[in-house]
Amino acid sequence: MIKVALPKGRIANESLALFERLYDTQFVFDDRKLILEHKHFTFMLVRSQDVPTYVTHKAADVGIVGLDVIEEQQANVVRLLNLNIGKCKVVVGSEVGKSLDYQKPQLKIATKMPHITRQHFASKAVSIEALKLYGSIELAPLVGLSDGIVDIVESGNTMRQNNLKIDEVIMESSAYLVANKNSFYEKKELILSLYNRLKEIV
Ligand code: PRP
Repeated sequence: MIKVALPKGRIANESLALFERLYDTQFVFDDRKLILEHKHFTFMLVRSQDVPTYVTHKAADVGIVGLDVIEEQQANVVRLLNLNIGKCKVVVGSEVGKSLDYQKPQLKIATKMPHITRQHFASKAVSIEALKLYGSIELAPLVGLSDGIVDIVESGNTMRQNNLKIDEVIMESSAYLVANKNSFYEKKELILSLYNRLKEIV
């Protein structure tokens, strides 16, 4: 039996589809149920930002989660396989026609990812205040909450439609299969068999 944390949201459907292709069956969570037992698996549906917590505490043996989330949380998990789904970029953005004024004593940057943000600007020796938001990041510079943003770009539509531009790409991200370190040893055969099957189709 192997416990798998699948992310709701951005990469949820794509990851479920991968498992359905692998096992040639439909994995359907009943209505509002968050847990599904099927064959050798217990699947659980969690918020993508919560996948590392389930995996590091061994409530899940493996999980699927974006590299951006792993980096933001500095999650202590085994990175097994890049699944090449949920591709996106973490970028610095600001309003079209303006540029970030690095001479300012302290730039305000709105973001869901304060750790990545602080690291990025520290590496450039630019002093910033990271304003942690939980969504609609693109709004912040438009209403004077921040000078710029650090956010995820997939299609680019949200930034375009809100008159923002990409100033810099901090990292490219995609979804990874990750494992709990102990589970990886204790359930090596099961996890490697999943790894090998996934590797063939991604
Ligand atoms: C993410 C991200 C951007 C948007 C980018 O937000 O924070 O807002 O997707 O996608 P795009 O480049 O394809 O337009 P999400 O949809 O997760 O919503 P949230 O802002 O409520 O977190």
